[in-house]
Amino acid sequence: MELVPLGPGFGAEVRGVGILDVATDTDAYKAVRGAFEEHSLLVFRDQPVADDIQVAYSRAFGPLELTKVSSVGQNTFYSRLTNMVDGKVVAPDHRQILVAKANALWHTDSSFKKTPALASVLTARVLPADGGETEFTSTRRAWERLPVDLQSRLKDAVATHSYANSRDQIHPDLATDLERKALPPVRWRLNWRNPANDRRALYVASHAYAIDGMDDRDARQLLAQLLDEATRREFVYSHKWRQGDAVMWDNRAVLHRGRPWDYARERTMVRTTISATTADGLDEVRPPVVH
Ligand SMILES: [Fe+2]
Repeated sequence: MELVPLGPGFGAEVRGVGILDVATDTDAYKAVRGAFEEHSLLVFRDQPVADDIQVAYSRAFGPLELTKVSSVGQNTFYSRLTNMVDGKVVAPDHRQILVAKANALWHTDSSFKKTPALASVLTARVLPADGGETEFTSTRRAWERLPVDLQSRLKDAVATHSYANSRDQIHPDLATDLERKALPPVRWRLNWRNPANDRRALYVASHAYAIDGMDDRDARQLLAQLLDEATRREFVYSHKWRQGDAVMWDNRAVLHRGRPWDYARERTMVRTTISATTADGLDEVRPPVVH
């Protein structure tokens, strides 16, 4: 296996080992798992992209998340991110376009769920000629750049995340009543320690909106500052998708966002998501219950 660094201090392209190898061979899995813990973002080119291979690959890393209510193909392992419905590209005001716009906010997948995500795997199925890149930044790097006094202030700080908070920034009806009920706010520490290497990462997202013990306006301001600093241009890797790409990222240690494209052109991607477990540091990021 060869790892080619992607650029801004994190991320690597994996060569010599493919997603099918990981699904079928323990040694290949161990090598890729090590690369994942170290580099946070892995890019595989020219892969045999198919739903069953993607699930077999993803399953090697842990339990898979089921898609949430109101998703295309809800309650499956496959989250289909597409602007096609019934064989046609949807209108510009369609829900699927709003979903794409919400994906364009910097976020980490599933921080609004009761069990957040360890990792996401995204494969390209149909790509537009231009645009639709996915951008990534390392929140591990962002944490390491914080002044020591801010790090110690944030070490035990707890933020509240909700799905509605990010969706409401796009359109008041984007989060449905069903989703609001199914996805009540959840609280996480503002940093996540990776037990594999002891490195901490800032755990923030567009889903976060409050910090325990802090005035709401101050909390929003601090969260926005942290997000801005983490996502400064020079720290961002922009992934230009090619057919056959499979990309995996560590939701504990990177933020990502989708970029716009000409929404009149088809773009279809498939995501599988791996839930975090105790072995991934989940118990530490979960704050004590407040009575
Ligand atoms: Fe995402």
